[in-house]
Amino acid sequence: LVPDDATVRVLRDLAFDLAREAGELIVDERPDALGVADTKSSEVDVVTVMDRRSEEVLRARIAAARPDDAILGEEDGASAGTSGLTWVIDPIDGTVNYLYGHPFYAVSVAVCVGDTAREGAWLPVAGAVAAPELDRTYVAGHGQGAEVVDRAGRRRPLAVSGCKRLELALVGTGFGYEADKRREQGQMLASLLPRVRDVRRAGAAAIDLCFVAEGILDAYYESGINAWDQAAGQVIATEAGALMSGMPGLPAGKTMAVASTPKIHEALRGCLFPAAR
Ligand code: IPD
Ligand code: CA
Ligand code: CA
Ligand code: CA
Repeated sequence: LVPDDATVRVLRDLAFDLAREAGELIVDERPDALGVADTKSSEVDVVTVMDRRSEEVLRARIAAARPDDAILGEEDGASAGTSGLTWVIDPIDGTVNYLYGHPFYAVSVAVCVGDTAREGAWLPVAGAVAAPELDRTYVAGHGQGAEVVDRAGRRRPLAVSGCKRLELALVGTGFGYEADKRREQGQMLASLLPRVRDVRRAGAAAIDLCFVAEGILDAYYESGINAWDQAAGQVIATEAGALMSGMPGLPAGKTMAVASTPKIHEALRGCLFPAAR
């Protein structure tokens, strides 16, 4: 299923250019009076004009460069293709941060094989996450390692931290937008917090996964994320040496995504899913 190395490199480089370009667009064209354009699952699940603008630009660029590929985007849904490849895009990951001017937001662009509509039935083969205010664009291709690139073009290979003990792990997580979901997530967090070094909530799942790749976090977990939150960060984190998994017996996906250094993965899972031990 995974395309050959040369194709993966082409996809990776295109994902990089697109994420970079959209990242610059959302910084440069951010309206002075940016407001909430719409809400989704709850009053705090917001969309801005720039989420839509960024997705429009990404979709047009993908359609022009790769007319046979399918596209799945957060704001505009799925469009079919014939190549077996799907571009999975989050035009702004961390919209609430973006709205507030908090610098932790990103554009996430991935290319996947498999069925992106079914949990656990797809695999990212290339991806890029551009976090313009952090001056970092993360990029990876399946089997080709992961790197972070700054505005000046300096590249650094990514590798996860050497964390070996859950008690010493800095763990990222995130929360959904619905109160019931958050109650559940709060309970899981309450049982984890006394067993780790500390917890961070950056506000952008794609950045959390890239921070695991970079060793800025030792682990990250979240329930309820979508393919567009996960796909690019997943290939970046795993290429940097992270392990990723989902609910007991499942790959990482909507019900649960867990990413960490290899040595703490089982301990973290044991803490998140005590009954499955
Ligand atoms: C959200 C962010 C957040 C995560 C949520 C996502 P959005 O994406 O990644 O960190 O906790 O689950 O929905 O809505 O800002 O693209
Ligand atoms: Ca997102
Ligand atoms: Ca988004
Ligand atoms: Ca959103």
